[in-house]
Amino acid sequence: MKQPRRQPLACAASLAVAAILMVSPAAAQDGAAIAANGVSGAPACASCHGTQGEGNAESGFPRLAGLNAAYLVHQLASFVDGTRKNDIMPPIAKALTPEQRQAVADFYAGQKVASATAEKPDAKLLARGAALAITGDWSHGVPACGQCHGPAGQGVGTAFPRLAGQGATYIENEIAAWKDGKRGNDPLHLMSGIAHKLSDDEVKAVAAYYAGLHVAKDSPHD
Ligand code: HEC
Ligand code: HEC
Repeated sequence: MKQPRRQPLACAASLAVAAILMVSPAAAQDGAAIAANGVSGAPACASCHGTQGEGNAESGFPRLAGLNAAYLVHQLASFVDGTRKNDIMPPIAKALTPEQRQAVADFYAGQKVASATAEKPDAKLLARGAALAITGDWSHGVPACGQCHGPAGQGVGTAFPRLAGQGATYIENEIAAWKDGKRGNDPLHLMSGIAHKLSDDEVKAVAAYYAGLHVAKDSPHD
């Protein structure tokens, strides 16, 4: 009795597996194609974010390589719904369908390019940044960044992005965006509260510190 009953289930399961096998290479390819060529209404992501998503530190274009896919999808959705304001990204994000956003996010999450060698800022600045990142500054209620962003800033899960290897200018811009109310998409407003407590000197120091941290090519976070 049991044998024939199992048959349709097994069949459905193998069909599902076959469907996944057929769909995923196509989706992965789409993501790579969007990054390299863009879509109608959106220029190639690579023209600003680099061919492998390594970013462009001088111009403040963020590194996307190795960031969690769910985090990237959330950011693209935030540019679309207006909770993250910016002059460049909203029209680009709006030109992508939800499926294209997912595909391009999957593509960048899978990129393992090592971070470019950052120029070394002065030792005093780095030491101050390291102290904030590792222990925080409880005298004015700033928790250690590493509590949420992971030791060495490698990121944690889908909500807390990697900061290691991210460009200093971009990090500074984002803290300023939270202070100015241009970025309001963070879960539970965890980051806005912290951004408001940081002085300009602290922002410079902690941005320099994270920009200088190495992203290993085989980093486990994706
Ligand atoms: C003309 C330059 C330019 C192009 C082209 C571009 N971007 Fe961006 N992108 C930016 C800038 C600048 C930011 C930072 C915006 C900010 O400060 O909020 C950004 C931010 C992002 C972020 C947020 C990253 C983070 O760490 O939160 C994502 C995701 C993103 N872009 C994806 C894309 C995708 C996908 C494409 C292609 C379809 C693309 N971008 C094309 C300039 C560009
Ligand atoms: C209580 C948890 C928490 C702490 C502590 C924390 N962050 Fe964050 N941070 C977040 C979350 C959550 C996000 C993602 C917000 C979103 O989804 O847009 C974030 C995002 C960021 C981003 C944007 C990254 C990107 O790719 O756009 C920067 C920069 C940042 N944090 C810097 C810091 C610094 C510097 C500190 C320490 C002074 C710090 N964070 C401490 C939770 C935290």
